[in-house]
Amino acid sequence: MKDKNFLNAKIISFEGIEACGKSTQIELLKEYLDENKITYLALREPGSNDTAEKIRDLLLNKDLKKDPLTEILLFMAARRELFIDQIVPNLNKKKVFILDRSIDSTLVYQAMAHDLDWEYFYGLHEELNLCIVPHRTFYFQMNYENSIERQKTRNQEQDYFEQKPKRYYTKLISGYDYLSQRFPDRFVTINADETIQSISTKVRKVVMELLDR
Ligand code: TYD
Repeated sequence: MKDKNFLNAKIISFEGIEACGKSTQIELLKEYLDENKITYLALREPGSNDTAEKIRDLLLNKDLKKDPLTEILLFMAARRELFIDQIVPNLNKKKVFILDRSIDSTLVYQAMAHDLDWEYFYGLHEELNLCIVPHRTFYFQMNYENSIERQKTRNQEQDYFEQKPKRYYTKLISGYDYLSQRFPDRFVTINADETIQSISTKVRKVVMELLDR
């Protein structure tokens, strides 16, 4: 989607492998935006709309096997719901849209991790006018071992994507690394092993610069 259609709103996405710490940083960013009276809408993908949440249940259910193309189509369907129901009607009302994952997750988790042509699916998003390219993408870079370690400390049952084998995670990491180099203007790579405070300071700085404040 072209910049002009977003008026003054900025779209910021948070990306990375499982347990990379993005949810904590999203919460801290929301607090900071509240303190500074900057209007925002925080959304998660897939989800943030009744239909998209149903699609999410299906996608994360580890008892349901899914073909990679089926996954892509379901994530795109959920994205369409989010776009039509949450983003478009709020473009004039919010300064910032915070996306907990977006198009890059699909490119990495569904296309690159399955050795599919990610550029084709990027183009498909464009053709369908679903290409919500964020103004900034925070990529929380973390290795496989640390992700697994953090998942253990959470003590929750692993979902469909979390339970994937190491080789899948390895492809996710190299996929994100690749995209961060391919799109250096919007990607901000963050070492996810830094302290919560230090990461939060960096995130705030980038967001305030983006908002020109
Ligand atoms: P979630 O519990 O929100 O995981 P996380 O906290 O790591 O974001 O579940 C979302 C899962 O969906 C996550 O494992 C990544 C996956 N996903 C894709 O595979 N493709 C996508 O396009 C999106 C948006 C998410």
